[in-house]
Amino acid sequence: MIRVYVPATTANLGPGFDCLGMALNLHNVVEMEKLDAGLHIEVQGDGSADIPRDESNIVYQAALKVFETVNFFPAGLRIKLTNQIPVCRGLGSSAAAIVGGIVAANLLSGSKLSKDKMLDLAVQMEGHPDNVAPALFGGITVSAAAEGEVHYICIAPPAGLKTVVAVPDFKLSTKLAREVLPNQVPLQDAVFNVGRAALLAAALCKGDLDKLCCAMEDRLHQNYRASLVPGMKKVLAAARLAGAKGVVLSGAGPTLIAFADDNFELIAKVMRDTFKESGIIAQVMLLEPTPVGARAMERM
Ligand code: HSE
Repeated sequence: MIRVYVPATTANLGPGFDCLGMALNLHNVVEMEKLDAGLHIEVQGDGSADIPRDESNIVYQAALKVFETVNFFPAGLRIKLTNQIPVCRGLGSSAAAIVGGIVAANLLSGSKLSKDKMLDLAVQMEGHPDNVAPALFGGITVSAAAEGEVHYICIAPPAGLKTVVAVPDFKLSTKLAREVLPNQVPLQDAVFNVGRAALLAAALCKGDLDKLCCAMEDRLHQNYRASLVPGMKKVLAAARLAGAKGVVLSGAGPTLIAFADDNFELIAKVMRDTFKESGIIAQVMLLEPTPVGARAMERM
């Protein structure tokens, strides 16, 4: 049996729409083994009631993609999923499912695929690299898809940087959160984001956390999505006042994530309380960036 741990991820980090992401120390576990016949999928943990147990399961779909690529066709398959990552909340649950399925299936079929090839397959399934890259490699990733190939660079998370996530008690599909975005943006907004995304990558490389406040500003997606997350702007402002270095929508939302090196309890309290003022119950967690991506812990 193969057992793979895959981290949660937060994508965009503000201005890095579809290109920046960070792995966090919250994990889903994918176990996979060959059977003589049939498909048996067992799911426990977060969102388990709603996760399909048939061929439409995304972990199975990802495994199938690997099996087709390497011409390995097990007669049957058992998959067991133990999930900690909240589903459809902007913390990379679908990326974790895809990456977990790909890494486990690659191990089961003789480790024929390189990590770069696994990333290509994951991006084909997810559509953009900003969650799947850190889920696979860990740390902070800068990635760009070009002519069927994904170029990426991994950055070690700066010392002392932690996050507070406020996870609202409702789901938001990435599809819906992308439908509210405009097809075109003003040049000034593009320029605004290019500068901040570049500044952010440099600040994270250098560990200059005081630049995060400016470097995490965004004009490409957050404001358009505010109507989908009641209280979003107030929670962002409150977390900043409580001492967050930067605070943004996590991926497509609805989770909001604050980056800080101190004041974690106060930031958590104001995020939870401010969401509550808008009628939203939010689960608040202190998560740390993890430099470790998807990994097989045991082989039995
Ligand atoms: N970059 C993506 C978005 C992340 O914001 O839509 C969500 O998968």
